This record gives sequence, C-alpha cells and structure tokens, in this order.
Amino acid sequence: MSNPSVLILPGDGIGQEVMAEVRKIITWFGDKRGLNFDVSEDLVGGAAYDKHGVPLADETMAKAQEADAVLLGAVGGPKYDDLDFSVKPERGLLRLRKEMDLYSNLRPAQCFDALADFSSLKKELVAGLDIMIVRELTSGVYFGEPRGIFEEGNERVGINTQRYTESEIERAARSAFELAMRRNKKLCSMEKANVMESGILWREVVTEVAKDYPEVELSHMYADNGAMQLVRAPKQFDVILTDNLFGDILSDCAAMLTGSLGMLPSASLGAPMENGRPKALYEPVHGSAPDITGQGKANPCACILSFAMALRYSFDQGDEATRLEQAVEKVLADGVRTGDLMQSDGGTPVSTSEMGDAVVAALEASL
Ligand code: NAI
Ligand code: MG
Repeated sequence: MSNPSVLILPGDGIGQEVMAEVRKIITWFGDKRGLNFDVSEDLVGGAAYDKHGVPLADETMAKAQEADAVLLGAVGGPKYDDLDFSVKPERGLLRLRKEMDLYSNLRPAQCFDALADFSSLKKELVAGLDIMIVRELTSGVYFGEPRGIFEEGNERVGINTQRYTESEIERAARSAFELAMRRNKKLCSMEKANVMESGILWREVVTEVAKDYPEVELSHMYADNGAMQLVRAPKQFDVILTDNLFGDILSDCAAMLTGSLGMLPSASLGAPMENGRPKALYEPVHGSAPDITGQGKANPCACILSFAMALRYSFDQGDEATRLEQAVEKVLADGVRTGDLMQSDGGTPVSTSEMGDAVVAALEASL
C-alpha cells in the first residue's frame, strides 16, 4: 500500500518559514514512528501569482483534490495589495476551500498552562481550557443570494442574505457530533432562533441529527449569549457548533482567550473521499505577517499544531497527535519562547528554527 499523501503549500511571508519547521516534524515522524508520508510541495497565493499569474494554478488545485491532506502556511503581503481582486493571494485560499467543498471549519481554543498569563481573562478562567468551535464554512450570509448594493428610491441599499438548506446544516452538524463523540460528548449549538428563521431551521435540524448520537449531551444557545458565556465562563463548553457568520466572530473571540495568534491551528474538512478520509486542509489561523517576515521571529507552533490536527483527523493517529501537542506544551513549560510569547521583560526569544528544533527534541525525549 502506498503512503498517505500530504501536499504542502507554504505560500507567502512567514508561511515559508513556519512550514520549514513542520517539515522537520514530518521527517521525525517518518524516521522515529514509521509514519511515512508522500510529501509534495507547490505554490499558493502571491508565490503562485509570481510564477503563474494566478494565485492557484489548475494543476495545484488538481493535486489538492487528490491529496489525503493539504497543509497551508499563509498567503498575502503588501507586494500584492494593489492586484486586481480576482488574482489576489487570498483568492487562492478561497478557491481551495470552495472547490474542495470544505464545509466544516474546526478551530480549537486550547490554553496551554504555560501561556495562561497571556489570556485577556483571569488565569483561573482559562487554565486547562480546551474547546473546539465547529463553524459551517461554505454557506450562510457570506454566500447567500440576493446580495449587492442596489438603488432603491433615492438612496442605496446593501443586501446580504442568510440562507441555509437542511442538508447544509445537517452535514455541518454531523461533523460536530462526530467530533463530540471523539471528545467529551458535549455539544452546544449556537444560532439566533429567537429572531432568524434560518436559526429556527438550524435548531430543528441539529435536534434531528442528535437522535443519531444519543450519547452526546446537546444544548442550544443564542449566539449573543454564547459570546457572553465564552468570556464569562469558557470552560463550560466542549464542542460548539455554529454557522458561518457567528462562527467567524465566536472563533476569533475564543481564540484570544488563549493568548497568541502564533499558537492557533485550524482544520477545514469536507466530505469523505473514496479511501474514507475527509477532504482536508490544515492551516494556522495567522496570516503572512509581513512585519516580521525573513527575520526568523515567527512562531511555528500554530503550523506545527495544524499538522497535529492532520495526524488526528486525516490519518487516525490520535496518540501521535497528542504526542506532538505534548511536545509543544513541554517546550513552552521549559520556557522556550518566540518573541510573540514573551512579556516585554521576558529575556531572549528563540528563533523560528530553534523553536522547531526544541519541539523535535521534546518529541525525541517522549520516546
Ligand atoms: P497576520 O496574522 O499576518 O499578523 C498579525 C500580527 O500578528 C502581526 O503583528 C504579526 O507579526 C503577528 N503574527 C502573526 N503570526 C505570527 C506568528 N506565527 N508568530 C509571531 N507573530 C505572528 O495578519 P495581518 O497583519 O492582518 O495580515 C498580513 C497579511 O496576511 C495580509 O496580506 C493578509 O491578507 C494576510 N492574511 C492571510 C491569512 C491566511 O493566509 N489565512 C489570514 C490573515 C491574514
Ligand atoms: Mg475572522
């Protein structure tokens, strides 16, 4: 049997730098754990535009459709700011998400004890926090028709439409319930069923899907209350399921409970392929960080933890994913820090590659 395939798309700016560290991790798992991947690399974003005149070449798109997992760094940068909208680096990423039909966006908000001081909340509220937000990613108000700015009488009107079909809600809900089954069997669904018909339908469909998962404790919450509860007592949640718009806001809100952008991974999953694995794209939440590009300052942990998610959700290697997450945790506990994880008087930061090496050393020590 051939090895599972991973397509690496480092992209732009620090995307290149953090991905170099992920490659060290992938090599380690091959050498020391017998987990061998067929790794190929290609261009996305500005890097693809420079070579092909488009932010994602058709042949790269085809490779992504075939890959067992796609690992992306980041796209964009000031060099590309004046490009036409149709070829902007971000369009490369949007094309991947759209054509792979990645409808379920997983955003963990996990607080490593060593970083609890970085949260905007009191340490005791966030220490040990481990929640997962599942955001529907391919429908809702960002895509619904009609949309646009129209003339109406003597003024203009801006229109967007929140639209969800039952099947769109159902597949997102199923992925959240599956996740809840792998975690603590607790799921909170958030919408605004009090004021939105799409929210009423959302609640009905989620309640229906729940019948297939009797072990999961399901609750419903209005999304505005959800936002309050997230900053009041975040540890009450385990898996949160929500739509595209609320998910965009709630996941960013939850993310900041845990400290730095440099620590946040994500996964976007679609329907199962023939081999049973879901279509999958893993990427750090952060962007290309032009302000620190090329200086060895980027924290590679968000990208490394995205690979841990790939191990868990694409390759069924939950134990090895945990090993990698614990290696990152140990490195932080040992006080090894990139600049983004330091208070102003915190001493000397390590470089991107020193951070990656420290994680590899911690993996080695775990054997
Ligand atoms: P950004 O996430 O690139 O940077 C925001 C701030 O966080 C910067 O000060 C940066 O230095 C810092 N930062 C980000 N990641 C870090 C890391 N791993 N280690 C240490 N510090 C880190 O967001 P920004 O500045 O708004 O956007 C920069 C470019 O990235 C733009 O072209 C934007 O369009 C693009 N972008 C791309 C995304 C993606 O590829 N998914 C997501 C967000 C922005
Ligand atoms: Mg956002």
